[in-house]
Amino acid sequence: MSVTLRDSFGRGIEYLRISVTDKCNFRCLYCMPVAGLEWLPKSDILSYEEIAQVVSELAPLGLRRLRITGGEPTLRPQLEHLVGMLRAIPEIEDISLSTNGLRLPTLGRLLRQAGLDRVNMSADSLRLDRIRSISRRNIDFDPIAAATAAEDAGLSPIKINVVVMRGINDDELCDFARLTIEHEWHVRFIELKPVGEMRELTWEHVVPSEEVLRRLSEIAPLESAAGPARGNGPARYFRFEGARGTIGVITPMSHTYCGSCNRVRLTADGRLRTCLFGDDEVDLRSPLREGLPLEPFFRSALSSKPKEHHLLQMQVGGLRALSQVGG
Ligand code: 5AD
Ligand code: SF4
Repeated sequence: MSVTLRDSFGRGIEYLRISVTDKCNFRCLYCMPVAGLEWLPKSDILSYEEIAQVVSELAPLGLRRLRITGGEPTLRPQLEHLVGMLRAIPEIEDISLSTNGLRLPTLGRLLRQAGLDRVNMSADSLRLDRIRSISRRNIDFDPIAAATAAEDAGLSPIKINVVVMRGINDDELCDFARLTIEHEWHVRFIELKPVGEMRELTWEHVVPSEEVLRRLSEIAPLESAAGPARGNGPARYFRFEGARGTIGVITPMSHTYCGSCNRVRLTADGRLRTCLFGDDEVDLRSPLREGLPLEPFFRSALSSKPKEHHLLQMQVGGLRALSQVGG
């Protein structure tokens, strides 16, 4: 008989974020330096077989939902093979993907066919010049077309994550919010977090979620909403009357969600991290490659999951970028 995994604060762990690469084809202002980061050597990165092994050993202990992240996960070749392997693990009920969306028009269908349930796409602007200046890549990218492609591929629900930056994209809040009227999309506004490479951004660029909501409610009244059916995580949801989709706010800078945190992260190089903002990691790659059972390592990782993060007390730049720890 298996016992649900619980950390020392009684929180069960049913959700795992899996980073499959630390590389990215964007260089978002709030995430990565233009020159990139020091990438992990290939031999340090878990193979798809190794990732599936971790998941299949965690699944009997209560794991139910997975999110594939990066870096940019679609840069990893044949990602659909991993999705297929994870889909075959019976306890797993939900598999989602976090992506910048650039490759969704080409890969959406393939991933869906392999068993992907849904996507969270990042989009910080709807204007090409700004998309280029925020991602610092000279790309042709239309987030609306990408979200539509994902929807047409059968991925659902579609969530669009917008990192709000004062003076950079906060004049587009209403344009993003209006998308939810016509489309059954869930647009979530995320407070900028002081992590990673933020030389160009400071605390002055943070727009508190309460301000976002106040500004949106000037277009039309917002009512509280239940949010999309699956995987609501730390967002609070609202809706314009009669709208098909919802609007969410995510406030990493307040402590409100740590108490219900049910997630852990697997880094691309096989470390289990129990809090996004802490530095506690347990190496799973070595025992995995030595053929040892992983359960004792899961338990020791969980016993150190902190009660809450201490972001507000931290210095800007003091932490690893989210691309390195799997968002
Ligand atoms: N602040 C807020 N969100 C961030 N993300 C990455 N870095 C940051 C940051 N510094 C999140 C955003 C983005 C996704 C890829 O990771 O949600 O859309
Ligand atoms: Fe890439 Fe996402 Fe980081 Fe942007 S935020 S650089 S898309 S990993």
